[in-house]
Amino acid sequence: MKANRWQLERSSLVPLFLAVITLGAFICTRYFASFAAALMDTNPPKSSVRTPEAVDSTQDLETAPNAIHIPLNCSLGELSTTCPANYYPSHVSAEAKLHPSSPPPSCPDYFHWIHEDLWPWRETGITRDMVMSAKWKANFRLVVVDGKAYVERYHKSSQSRDTFTLWGILQLLRRYPGKLPDLDLMFDCVDRAAISKYDPALPPLFRYSRNDYYMEIMFPDWSFWGWPEINIKPWEVLSKELKEGNTRTQWRDREAYAYWKGNPLVAATRMDLLKCNVSDKQDWNARIYAQDWEQEEKQGYKQSNLASQCIHRFKLYIEGVAWSVSNKYILACDSLTLLVKPMFHDFFLRGLIPLKHYWPIKDDDKCRSIKHAVDWGNNHQEEAQAIGKAASSFILDELKMDYVYDYMFHLLSEYAKLLKYKPTVPEKASELCSELMACRAKGVEKKFMVDSLVGPASTQPCTMPPPYSPASFHSVIQRNKDGMKQVDTWEREYWKNQNKQM
Ligand SMILES: *[C@@H]1O[C@H](CO)[C@@H](O)[C@H](O)[C@H]1NC(C)=O
Ligand SMILES: *[C@@H]1O[C@H](CO)[C@@H](O)[C@H](O)[C@H]1NC(C)=O
Repeated sequence: MKANRWQLERSSLVPLFLAVITLGAFICTRYFASFAAALMDTNPPKSSVRTPEAVDSTQDLETAPNAIHIPLNCSLGELSTTCPANYYPSHVSAEAKLHPSSPPPSCPDYFHWIHEDLWPWRETGITRDMVMSAKWKANFRLVVVDGKAYVERYHKSSQSRDTFTLWGILQLLRRYPGKLPDLDLMFDCVDRAAISKYDPALPPLFRYSRNDYYMEIMFPDWSFWGWPEINIKPWEVLSKELKEGNTRTQWRDREAYAYWKGNPLVAATRMDLLKCNVSDKQDWNARIYAQDWEQEEKQGYKQSNLASQCIHRFKLYIEGVAWSVSNKYILACDSLTLLVKPMFHDFFLRGLIPLKHYWPIKDDDKCRSIKHAVDWGNNHQEEAQAIGKAASSFILDELKMDYVYDYMFHLLSEYAKLLKYKPTVPEKASELCSELMACRAKGVEKKFMVDSLVGPASTQPCTMPPPYSPASFHSVIQRNKDGMKQVDTWEREYWKNQNKQM
């Protein structure tokens, strides 16, 4: 129903072509929503969280081993509804100040996009009215005052998206206690973007993904702290397993095909990909598998273990309802990622460069594009491996949790600078702390929170790059276009020769 309201309210504001595109998208989403039980990525089974793996809910929760040791104080018990006094470990940051480390490194390149995302408000600033005008789309409003988080919830998100997003923000506050400026923001946990860049009210809205027709502000998605419903562990833990998974099979010994596994039902483009699967009649060099999450759950997720999926030389990425959180898991394999031209991006996907980090695949001619890419890679093994390596280094180094927190830190700091008013705690908001969430959590949710709990950082956040100049912005766009064009040329020649041979 929300989709219809959205459609009615928005369609008068956006150009006709946009309305047509989004209407198509909604028909598609609504149609597939009836497959609810079996959906991948956005709608895995609704079933309960699995039984806890040896987590004692009464014990104090300890921080992950690599962080400064700060246990949560859960002694107020499960009935507690208020945060304990002085729960941010400020004494430790004072200690850390005694050991100033070398100047912080500069942030990875993709941090540039923070400036781009906030560009619409660079001249107007952000007023309280603007923030409130995004309320109709938001799952929650987050206010930070004096380093503490206050949350007003409007409606529950799908699954645990809102829970783990808020958990991530609380960890950011623990990591940099007292360093984040006061702020006030609206957050939407839905896949599809909604705020047109032509909306004159300029409503600032945080979410995980969008395309170029929208102006939402990109924020790291919940899966960095875990996705209990489909057993996807916090990134800190999972990225180490993926790194290890890479060492199990040498690139040359991997299967010489393009692999994809996921739920095809969520998007028309994924249904289209199925046509490229190997059959008696033809082999496009693709091996495509449908993920059945219900079956997986019954079997204890043995077949969906991401760390043992780096056994093909080529891996396909294709978006779902919008971007797919699978992008980081696919790119983390040092196989060559074949990236089907995406419409949507999250906060880091924009930092990837064609032919440096991935091989672009045409969206409207997938099978022929994949066939050529795999043949190219098997005939240019050194180059293919180098691209695969560059992508896994990007994901495992530039997208490690330290940088995810730094991205959030800089994004929220830059956002706060634009606010034209001093945020105050809204009447209906309540204080939220890690204790309130983790002490009461159970099962896999609790385990993931324990595993992603952080203590104060002993270093400063990385140094933000300045905004792109118009010239450097242009050259980034041009560089990407050139990469695509190069592949397009090779692909044409390849098919011309293939056809000649036939
Ligand atoms: C935990 O919080 C309670 C209540 O605020 C306090 O009395 C107790 O000393 C705290 N325990 C620790 C280990 O800080
Ligand atoms: C693709 O083909 C393989 C091999 O025939 C098969 O096992 C697999 O189920 C097919 N995938 C889909 C989605 O039908």
